[in-house]
Amino acid sequence: MKVAIVTGGSNGIGKSAALELGKKGIGVILTYHSDQESAEEVIREIEKNHSIRAIALRLDLSKKETFADFAKNVRTNLEEIWNRKTFDYLVNNGGIGGGMPFDEMTEEYFYKIFNTNFVGPFFLTQHLIRFMEDGGRIVNISSSSSRGSFPGYSAYGSSKAALTSWSRYLAKELSPRRIRVNSISPGPVHTNLGGGVFDKHPEFIQPLADQTALGRIGSPIDIAHTIVQFLSDEFGWVTAQDIEVSGGFLL
Ligand SMILES: NC(=O)c1ccc[n+]([C@@H]2O[C@H](COP(=O)([O-])OP(=O)(O)OC[C@H]3O[C@@H](n4cnc5c(N)ncnc54)[C@H](OP(=O)(O)O)[C@@H]3O)[C@@H](O)[C@H]2O)c1
Repeated sequence: MKVAIVTGGSNGIGKSAALELGKKGIGVILTYHSDQESAEEVIREIEKNHSIRAIALRLDLSKKETFADFAKNVRTNLEEIWNRKTFDYLVNNGGIGGGMPFDEMTEEYFYKIFNTNFVGPFFLTQHLIRFMEDGGRIVNISSSSSRGSFPGYSAYGSSKAALTSWSRYLAKELSPRRIRVNSISPGPVHTNLGGGVFDKHPEFIQPLADQTALGRIGSPIDIAHTIVQFLSDEFGWVTAQDIEVSGGFLL
């Protein structure tokens, strides 16, 4: 059985991706940060509906000193549950959102965003890649903010631009092992990002929908479908690409 690691699989886009991968018969190791309850619900749903094994492990992407132990834990679970020494797919999805005007930006906030959204996935992948199967696949979740210029989002947008750029370098460096690496840049998606901004401020939704060619903001499943496609054999000749999945945001 193929096995995927999905960071930030307890909520939003990662949760939707984990459920879709389960439906495809792929074993799932998902990570959560603060919401263990939701992570366990995702596991129950995958295992109930699809007779597939899934587990949830805690991970804080902003703490790279914990990654060696995390990787060890993953290896132990791969052996015990799947009788495997390797895994097949990595979805670097976990991250945080939020803004702060540039002239008020604190170093603390800047590094929190960068460490979680870029430094974390970078070094986590370094640990995990050592036991990814040759021919494996990586999808990094970037953002349309990496391409735009949204006031207040200079740290977030830059952290995602770094992630997109790194994806191309990784695609080249891992190509001798036939590992494909791509990234996805979602437009606005209704999730818990930024402290659940769309639930707290539903009035933010319509103006964004009005700026989207297809007339609504995204839902997690819109992005999850693209993640699953990127991981699939049908996309076997696609690497080092970034695709905006936004319904035509700001088109
Ligand atoms: N929503 C959007 O409009 C949008 C647009 C473009 C890109 N994205 C990107 O999509 C990805 C998923 O976000 P989402 O929209 O699905 O938001 P979400 O619903 O808030 O989900 C974020 C996920 O990341 C996890 N996470 C948060 N802090 C973490 C940390 N320090 N270490 C490890 N994991 C952490 C969360 O875990 P817990 O819930 O367990 O704490 C959760 O599973 C992010 O990388 C985000 O930047 C989102």
